[in-house]
Amino acid sequence: MSETAQPAKRLFIKTYGCQMNVYDSERMADVLAPLGYGMTDSPEGADLVVLNTCHIREKATEKVYSELGQIKRMKQAREADGAGMTIAVAGCVAQAEGEEIMRRQPAVDLVVGPQAYHQLPELIARAHRARGERLAADFAADEKFDALPTTRRPDGVTAFLTVQEGCDKFCTFCVVPYTRGAEWSRPAETIEAEARGLAEQGVREVTLLGQNVNSYAGEGGLAGLVRRLAKIPGLDRIRYTTSHPRDMDDALIAAHGEVDELMPYLHLPVQAGSDKILKAMNRAHTAESYLRLIERIRAARPDIAISGDFIVGFPGERDADFEATLQLVREVGYASAFSFKYSRRPGTPASAMPGQVAEEVKDERLARLQALLIEQQRAFNASQTGKVLPVLFEKKGRHTGQLIGRSPYLQSVHVSAPDRLLGQIVTVKIEDAAQNSLAGVLALETA
Ligand code: SAH
Ligand code: SF4
Ligand code: F3S
Repeated sequence: MSETAQPAKRLFIKTYGCQMNVYDSERMADVLAPLGYGMTDSPEGADLVVLNTCHIREKATEKVYSELGQIKRMKQAREADGAGMTIAVAGCVAQAEGEEIMRRQPAVDLVVGPQAYHQLPELIARAHRARGERLAADFAADEKFDALPTTRRPDGVTAFLTVQEGCDKFCTFCVVPYTRGAEWSRPAETIEAEARGLAEQGVREVTLLGQNVNSYAGEGGLAGLVRRLAKIPGLDRIRYTTSHPRDMDDALIAAHGEVDELMPYLHLPVQAGSDKILKAMNRAHTAESYLRLIERIRAARPDIAISGDFIVGFPGERDADFEATLQLVREVGYASAFSFKYSRRPGTPASAMPGQVAEEVKDERLARLQALLIEQQRAFNASQTGKVLPVLFEKKGRHTGQLIGRSPYLQSVHVSAPDRLLGQIVTVKIEDAAQNSLAGVLALETA
């Protein structure tokens, strides 16, 4: 594109929530590009603002409404200048709250659920014409992928690639089965085609996405898909997220031991360590079965970094139940983790359970759990010092002459290195470790 060819219309997308939303935002930009929309990095002065929202916890949802309040003022300012702004709400709040959003914030022009992004051009046209039909929230995931543009323009050397959507697990605390619909897998051929297209444009690493990615039901399951993608020239690293312990099958565990491209990092949420709580959560695993699973995975790939999600203060969680969570964490030894206070979500079974836990108790438990998880993360990072690791350089660092990349274990690694190594996988000697990153030197230069 020449420097003078400014896009006719400016698009601002703000993304909340999980990686699936990051992927979807990119795809929305792809759908809108042929209509003349080019990305801008601030909502002020945008012709179209899309908020791609998350409904997972109450805070996430409330953030959207406060952001909408601010964007409404920008819209009014633009209208006063004789220009317009179209406001669209996409993502999981759109799916869960639909019309309610437009009632709460009348400045919103349209609401579009996660499976209807291919209808965006039409919805925008209708919103412009008549303020007519403003809501599209059905669950036909196959239509979405068939109708999205087949080519992508990756921005960088790593990319997300959605392979599965939706959830049939119905954990009693979670809104995802309601916002993303039933589990659905894309055919392996279309995923392979998308991955090849990305690799041809210089992508070295893909992260396969799904709300339950390891329940991938296309040909060969997730293990088969990983082996298939590993053969694509140029694609050197494969990751996947998020997995459910229940769908971690032997074939996938074996792949961790056999496929070099499959990175030694696994996000495998356990949520809690008390069997009573796990049962009330409808998790379909026990603490013991989870620990045995981790053992089998480590037998296949001894150095694998394990990550997880935790909820504290689920209804009925007593001190002893929380202690069981801490005990499980000590037994596993996590490389990284996300932990949350239970948030009561309307319409989910747990929101109506007796024994809701007081906020102060949740705060105290979260602080204790996080202290332990941070200690483990620091220990894991520290265990890398002195090692020589392959690092994929993804971007420039804050200091001149510095690049930032990722280790196989998904740690950020800061290195003094020339720009020409961007996008390359280079061996780095790790010299220092902090809570959130490593620092090292190019191994060749130290040899
Ligand atoms: N599909 C993934 C992730 C779902 S959402 C999985 O099953 O692991 C990401 C995380 O948010 C969950 O793992 C859980 O730890 C947390 N979460 C979901 N609902 C929540 C709620 N109501 N309150 C607090 N945390 C929640
Ligand atoms: Fe939510 Fe459970 Fe499904 Fe994960 S597996 S998305 S936590 S219902
Ligand atoms: Fe949030 Fe929806 Fe992802 S609720 S975590 S954006 S699936």
